[in-house]
Amino acid sequence: MSVAPRHVGLSAPWLDEREEELVVEVLRSGRLSLGPWIDRFEEEFAATVGAPFAAAVSSGTAGLHLLCAIAGIEPGDEVITSPYSFVASANCAVYEGAVPVFADIDPRTLNLDPAAVEAAITQRTKAIVAVDIFGYPSEMDELQAIAERHGLTLIDDSCEALGARYKGHPLGAQGQDAVWAFYPNKQITTGEGGVVTTWSEETWKLLKSLRNQGRADGGGWLDHARLGWNYRIDDIRAAIGIGQLEKLDRILAGRNEVAGRYAELLGDVDGLVLPCLNDDDHERSWFVYVVELPAGTDREAVIRVLEERGIGTARYLPCIHLQSYMRERYGFAEGLCPIAEDKSSRTLALPFHARLAADDQAFVAETLRHALGQ
Ligand SMILES: Cc1ncc(COP(=O)(O)O)c(C=O)c1O
Repeated sequence: MSVAPRHVGLSAPWLDEREEELVVEVLRSGRLSLGPWIDRFEEEFAATVGAPFAAAVSSGTAGLHLLCAIAGIEPGDEVITSPYSFVASANCAVYEGAVPVFADIDPRTLNLDPAAVEAAITQRTKAIVAVDIFGYPSEMDELQAIAERHGLTLIDDSCEALGARYKGHPLGAQGQDAVWAFYPNKQITTGEGGVVTTWSEETWKLLKSLRNQGRADGGGWLDHARLGWNYRIDDIRAAIGIGQLEKLDRILAGRNEVAGRYAELLGDVDGLVLPCLNDDDHERSWFVYVVELPAGTDREAVIRVLEERGIGTARYLPCIHLQSYMRERYGFAEGLCPIAEDKSSRTLALPFHARLAADDQAFVAETLRHALGQ
């Protein structure tokens, strides 16, 4: 029986008159960059994640790169990260000449397994880039203890996790340097953009210099104290970010509700593994809704059925070490991270955003059941 397709997109930002109003205010002010909106966005963002300092940047990738540069990562160093992440989690270290080292993940949380991280440490290891994948907080205490024990820098790639909580506090409040990203599929968006939060005033000052072509603290416009980049955000995007933060609670509540509805709709599908649940220490901020298809399922066939009915999907996430440029550059191959590779071959993102309609979700669930022959 053929079913009429309907368009159910993979993600959608939540923008309204408030962001329009704020953007118009910036345009009328004439201060489009290096203006007061950036300071305001940074202050509000820092308060949201419970960190003392925040520096806004042009993207999450830029923020990760700046933290790698500040960590003093050099050619020949090794940086441990998760294979089950977006490429930027590894690229940030590669930009500074480091070799990415992939430690395997925990099969339940899909985040770095601290034991695998510790086992991957060598004399050349300089840093760990943890990733709070799909908004689920990493094992922050364990990772911080490992970093301290071995004298390593810990960077938290929290690009997907704004609003997550760890041991009762917002993720970002545990003393770590963390990076947040605002591409339009994220919890909040500025179009493109990111923020680095830190507990170190020195790091914060360096971030502000490095994102702005290495300009000297308090120096003149053409006074450059160090090699930097143009990783600035502008006031228009900062203003959109302020509007987004104002509605963050509503966005997160909407995402919780949509995730809860998927759990009800899909909870009894045979063999389908749903995203792991919160426990006492970890509270997810819903970024995407990624399910693990039953073993032996032809994922491409499932995707075809969903797409034929107008449903957006994505193969979240391909393993970073198996991307062609990584294979060519470092000789990585299958078998390096068996858990990540297995998950990566079976996971699939379903349409997900704060205002996804209940009947669209029901349509997605019914189509997925059909595609799985159930
Ligand atoms: C885990 C992770 N790290 C880093 C990034 C990079 O952020 P951006 O796209 O803003 O550079 C993303 C965004 O997609 C991400 O999901």
